[in-house]
Amino acid sequence: MADGPEKPAAAPAESGQSTWGGRFAEPTDAFVARLNASVGFDRRLYREDIAGSKAHAAMLAKQGIIPPDDAAAIRDGLDAVQAEIEAGQFTWSADLEDVHMNVEHRLTARIGPAGGRLHTARSRNDQVATDLRLWVLRRIDDDLVPRIDRLQRALLDVAEAHRDTVLPGYTHLQRAQPVLLAHHLLAYVEMLERDRGRLLDARKRAAESPLGCAALAGTPFPLDRGLTARALGFTRPMANSLDAVGDRDFAVELCAAAALIMTHLSRFAEELVIWSSQEFGFIELGDAFATGSSIMPQKKNPDIPELVRGKTGRVFGDLVALLTVLKGLPLAYNKDLQEDKEALFDAVDTVADCLEATARLLPSTTWRADRMRAACDAGFVTATDVADYLAAKGVPFREAHHVVGRLVGWCIAEQRALPSLSLDEFRRFSDAFDDDIRRAVTVEASVAARTSEGGTAPARVAEALAAARARMADRG
Ligand code: ARG
Repeated sequence: MADGPEKPAAAPAESGQSTWGGRFAEPTDAFVARLNASVGFDRRLYREDIAGSKAHAAMLAKQGIIPPDDAAAIRDGLDAVQAEIEAGQFTWSADLEDVHMNVEHRLTARIGPAGGRLHTARSRNDQVATDLRLWVLRRIDDDLVPRIDRLQRALLDVAEAHRDTVLPGYTHLQRAQPVLLAHHLLAYVEMLERDRGRLLDARKRAAESPLGCAALAGTPFPLDRGLTARALGFTRPMANSLDAVGDRDFAVELCAAAALIMTHLSRFAEELVIWSSQEFGFIELGDAFATGSSIMPQKKNPDIPELVRGKTGRVFGDLVALLTVLKGLPLAYNKDLQEDKEALFDAVDTVADCLEATARLLPSTTWRADRMRAACDAGFVTATDVADYLAAKGVPFREAHHVVGRLVGWCIAEQRALPSLSLDEFRRFSDAFDDDIRRAVTVEASVAARTSEGGTAPARVAEALAAARARMADRG
């Protein structure tokens, strides 16, 4: 019950009086005030809120809407408020509902009546939309894209250090055909490249300014919305005031991109989990990235990949929560939109952490080329090469497939591996076999033969590595 409705309200009964008390005869109910308040989570937007207010005040002065001295006082006052927040000296108040009113209230306490002019031609509706868009841009630029780059580099480092390592490629988690470990890791580099592209694409639409749309309809004041947009790093003002205050597509797009990043990370995490099992033994996680058991002394558990896999669910949940908040919402602002933030914050924080964890874990991982190789040798992974061999000698592929099926069945019964067979043994299954089959069934020959574009042949993989490195180099 500790977190239930009985929890003492954080807000005293007289809350809300100062901002809209003029219209109301009774103070806000204390329980309602607590439920209504978002400052517990939206205080994270303080930087964006202050930047938006400074740009707005400067524009108001430039347009002759407020006196220049007041704008200067507002600017300096906001800087002082920011310093207080960053020094941990700011007292956040649930009475003041959200970050916007907390900051404005403190500003006015510091600078007096000039602070009351800041909210001219503005509403919290365009303010919160502006803050959230700025936050999204900052997190994409400062956290998400750099972390994707970092993980791509970590994958490339492993790929380059293991250029000759082969492991079975799988379908249905059954050993299928040998591939280079570098090729396998490059598959994730590609996924992350698309993720990066999605973030940068979402960024374009997030980078439009709602500021100056006021509550919903615009404002009679002669604003210069282009000026505030440019000052804040937006590309342009949003075109429609109703859309500007009601839209959260940019948050959905970022959550959707985050969900897909998590999908990719979860697939890799799952591979790390199974590869680190004793059954596979393809990798050993570094001690610093694994945990032990409180009861079983022999255990080394892949908790970090498991957590990445597990956290994928919450990011999907964040996306669905956000979409559900927006579904059927009439124009323009509705308080439902306050529910956007926790989902968005959680999705971004989680994906940033999981990108970071995966990148950090890679360098300390031991890659057991011997075990990967042994899995290839025991796994008939060159059976397709035998069928291809027969087809190249003129045997129809369907027939060749059947011949090799019988051959593999015999090997399983005799506990033999394909590379161990003599030419005579091969010939028991088809006259088309010649001496060169002995080379064709090796893992090396199989990999080397996969020269098609995007294939696992060493020359193709070397090209792909070089291309990926060049792409990274362009990013500085
Ligand atoms: N805390 C609010 C939110 O997060 C800010 C906007 C409030 N606007 C309003 N008209 N109540 O959405």
